[in-house]
Amino acid sequence: MKILVTGGAGFIGGNFVKYMVNKYSDYDIYNLDLLTYAGDLTKHQDISTKKNYHFVKADIADHEAITTLFDKEKFDFVVHFAAESHVDRSIADPGVFIRTNVLGTQILLDAAKKIGVTKFVHVSTDEVYGELDFDTTSFFTEGTPLQPNSPYSASKASSDLLVRSYHETYGLPVNITRCSNNYGPYHFPEKLIPLTISRVLSDQKIPVYGDGKNVRDWLHVFDHCTAIDLVMHKGVNGEVYNVGGHNERTNLEVVTTIIKALGKSENLIEFVEDRLGHDKRYAIDPTKIEKLGWKSTYTFETGIVQTIQWYLENKEWWQQIISGEYQKYFENQYSI
Ligand code: NAD
Ligand code: TYD
Repeated sequence: MKILVTGGAGFIGGNFVKYMVNKYSDYDIYNLDLLTYAGDLTKHQDISTKKNYHFVKADIADHEAITTLFDKEKFDFVVHFAAESHVDRSIADPGVFIRTNVLGTQILLDAAKKIGVTKFVHVSTDEVYGELDFDTTSFFTEGTPLQPNSPYSASKASSDLLVRSYHETYGLPVNITRCSNNYGPYHFPEKLIPLTISRVLSDQKIPVYGDGKNVRDWLHVFDHCTAIDLVMHKGVNGEVYNVGGHNERTNLEVVTTIIKALGKSENLIEFVEDRLGHDKRYAIDPTKIEKLGWKSTYTFETGIVQTIQWYLENKEWWQQIISGEYQKYFENQYSI
């Protein structure tokens, strides 16, 4: 069985590729990635010599390259992670989000339709639903209307609608997963949790947008991987599955948890100008995927301890990232 994983050099795709290569020695896992600023292959040093791991450098928005590859390899499954994924970058420069997330998805769908894949799993986000109020009783369900607020979430919602249309129009066997915020090993240090860990470890200020009261629902990346594995094998064609583990925290709670765990001072927190269009709260109702047989294994408390430990033990990986191009990004993005 041949599985194409797009964006497998990134954070979640990278964890998923490792998980699949180790779990299914009889599946051939093809990691297709353009290796943008967010992709790196050092994370796969431990699996790169395994017989069932393959890497292809390609751009999902390159119609000819993708069509040729699909015609040659005749993949059975496509699990599609490749995307521009950072909200702040989408606010600064939306164009590449449309090219990769919308056009790239449509090109993959066409290629998958042409060869007749068994399943196309589209990895999406709860951000397509927009935002919830600051209460504790409302949750995103699969029936919540799509009301994306950032160029990133609008590009993801557009790709979701294309995936849906290929199912409705052409009968392509698809699933869409919409997961809450992930964290864990190999999370790129532009996102809140790894940014906070890396800066606390360097005794540098942590930029918290607005008043820090915005809420996110955090899921450990391992639990996202098991959810996608389940949907890939058992998902009912055409269905959407929300993925989340009921771990809602304000940004300030997340940052102070990390500071405390590392024994540092809360004086490191610096409140900075709020993100434009900053969504107030995300929270997932995971009932549908739980009925399919999924259950998360990490609470936020256990997951954050494991993650901090990983960053302590893998300084080389993130220090190499923050010493390069990232410096320029940080200076443009923040004035601290
Ligand atoms: P990431 O930014 O860490 O990784 C994206 C990967 O895609 C990188 O390896 C990059 O090189 C690759 N890529 C980018 N453009 C490409 C192109 N044109 N062709 C081929 N490869 C390309 O992202 P992530 O956080 O791992 O997110 C993966 C997917 O999961 C995304 O689709 C995202 O929308 C979704 N998602 C993310 C989260 C989260 O919290 N990070 C939550 C829910 C859903
Ligand atoms: P982020 O990790 O960018 O994920 P997303 O925007 O997809 O939810 O941000 C998580 C939350 O943390 C979000 O409410 C914005 C906030 N945040 C900060 O307060 N400061 C930062 O420097 C970053 C990157 C995010």
